Amino acid sequence: MAIWPDMTRIHHAPTPSLKRTLRNTLVLALVLARTAVAPALAGDAGAGKDVFKTECAECHSIKEGRNKKGPSLFGVVGRKAASLPDYGYSDALRGQTTWTWTPEQLHAYLSQPAKRANPGTKMKYDGLNDQKQLDDLITYLGTIH
Ligand code: HEC
Repeated sequence: MAIWPDMTRIHHAPTPSLKRTLRNTLVLALVLARTAVAPALAGDAGAGKDVFKTECAECHSIKEGRNKKGPSLFGVVGRKAASLPDYGYSDALRGQTTWTWTPEQLHAYLSQPAKRANPGTKMKYDGLNDQKQLDDLITYLGTIH
C-alpha cells in the first residue's frame, strides 16, 4: 500500500521536466536559426540606413511600389532581379534571369561599378569599396520587408 504515493509522484514527475526540455529545445532551435543567418547579415542596420541615404536614396526608395530613377528596394533581399512589374528595367538587367538578390549577390553587385557587374545597365553607380558600409547597408536592406 505504501508504494502508491511514490508511484504517483514518479508518474507525475516527468511532465514538468519534459515541458522544460521541450522549451529549452525550442529556445536552442531559435538561437541556432538566428546564428545560421548571422554570417550574411552581420552588419549594423542602423548604420546601413545612413549608408542607404547617402549612396542610394537619390535613385531608390524603400517604400513598396515607389519607383524613382531606380526601382523600389522594398523587399529586395531575396527578390529575383528585374522582377517588379511596374518598373521599366534595362534589357541588360532583364537578361539576368538567374540572378536573385541574396546578400551575397548584392555584395558582389554593389562592390564594383554597376556597368561592370551588369554591362548595359542603366544604374549609374561606381560601387562601394568600404566592406563594413556594404555589410551594414545589406543588413539594413534585409530589414525592409
Ligand atoms: C544614380 C542612380 C542610382 C544609384 C545612386 C543607385 N542605383 Fe540602384 N538602380 C538604379 C537604376 C536606374 C536601376 C535599374 C537598372 C536597370 O534596369 O538596368 C537600379 C537597379 C538596382 C537594383 C536591381 C533591383 C531589381 O529590381 O532587380 C538594385 C538591387 C539596386 N539598384 C541597388 C542599389 C543600391 C543598394 C544602391 C546604393 C548603394 C544603388 N542601387 C544606387 C539607379 C541607381
